[in-house]
Amino acid sequence: MRVADRVAVSPARAVTGELRVPGDKSISHRYALLAAIADGRSVVANYAPGADCASTLACIAALGAIVSRTTPPRDDEPAVVTIDGRGLRGLAAPAGPLDCGNSGSTMRMLSGVLAAHPFLSTLIGDASLSRRPMRRIIGPLTRMGADVSAGPGDRPPVTIRGAALTGIHFAPETPSAQVKSAVLLAGLQASGETQVVEPACTRDHTERALAAFGAAVTISGRAITLHGGQRLTGQMVRVPGDISSAAFMAVAAAAMPGSDVTILDVGLNPSRAALVDVLRRAGANIDTAVEGDWSGEPVGRVRIRHGELRDVVIAPEQVPELIDELPVLATLGTFGGSVTVSGAGELRFKESDRIAELVAGLRAMGADADERPDGFQVRRGKPLTGGSVHAHGDHRLAMAFAIAALGASGPTQVDGADAVAVSYPSFFDDLDRLAVRSPAGARPRA
Ligand code: S3P
Repeated sequence: MRVADRVAVSPARAVTGELRVPGDKSISHRYALLAAIADGRSVVANYAPGADCASTLACIAALGAIVSRTTPPRDDEPAVVTIDGRGLRGLAAPAGPLDCGNSGSTMRMLSGVLAAHPFLSTLIGDASLSRRPMRRIIGPLTRMGADVSAGPGDRPPVTIRGAALTGIHFAPETPSAQVKSAVLLAGLQASGETQVVEPACTRDHTERALAAFGAAVTISGRAITLHGGQRLTGQMVRVPGDISSAAFMAVAAAAMPGSDVTILDVGLNPSRAALVDVLRRAGANIDTAVEGDWSGEPVGRVRIRHGELRDVVIAPEQVPELIDELPVLATLGTFGGSVTVSGAGELRFKESDRIAELVAGLRAMGADADERPDGFQVRRGKPLTGGSVHAHGDHRLAMAFAIAALGASGPTQVDGADAVAVSYPSFFDDLDRLAVRSPAGARPRA
């Protein structure tokens, strides 16, 4: 599925219908990495279709895991990935640099895996990833005994010479599920105990995935502990729909009168579900139902209907549980109630500077919005006109601008729209299907 580089989004009156979003990106990365160091075969159904998770598969294949992807007969059917693992510390030296593409999760979590392998690996990425900070993994992995370095300013490429690791007790200053996961993956292959004490709870998919693959992990409040040397066993797993992808249509439904959207088979892990709380606080009518447990991950349906929008303030404590949803939540302010976010300075280190580029894009569309050093405010009462915006290579900005565009008085041209391929290649098709437009307002593609 190829997405045009430039997409014109026309306004809509509402969004309605049922939707299944692609498999969860965070969970897909973890299943692929664990399967690569497990004994035996794993089969991962509904593996995330985007470029980020393809980068992880390409890296583990370059390290000797045997990966095969069943191409679905239809474009909209999810892929099944089979991975024959190499066992704990069993990966083989790669023939060249490991290309993590746009994916910070791949680079950081794979570093944790490679820290225990006694060969030299170099992890590279695209221009956006090459600007992202890696000190946060270099510190703890070095303490565990690996030789890890990066380029100037601790930016990629990351070079790792793995070693026999020793477990550590680690208390990161910044909440980050990627960093926690890198240390836990290294700890699994280290001698002794590894403990991570988080400054605030972050998504716990690694902990759940480790348990699903047979490792004992102890969780006590914000402390996660495991003993090194536990072997993993290949598993049959199915990836829930990605709540961070669902967030785009959920915000559109919350924002536009007459909307009614139900998202099926979506992950409802409590460490990711703060979106639902914020949308309720903003006035939306939301029903959620957990209908199953897929390898330790709660899965179910969410129905979102419009309600009169109120102002919402997102406090620093809630930011780690919502970090990827903040760009689209900002767009609520362009439809109705103001949105104020603080304590989210981490947004400046994502695929783009998500504070600067988000505010610049929304302002270009006519919004009344301001940057703050650690957040932003989008004020109610100024209807958007539409216009021209740039996603700056950032998938979540491309999709957030497209959602804001639904409420504008004129069309919006999103440049760099092809960035959606990183996490949600069918985004614009799904949006077209759910958007209620007058026939004359059908979205033209440039
Ligand atoms: C992720 C953690 C978050 C998030 C990213 C995915 C993960 O990053 O923004 O999209 O899968 O662990 P940080 O760990 O940098 O907060």
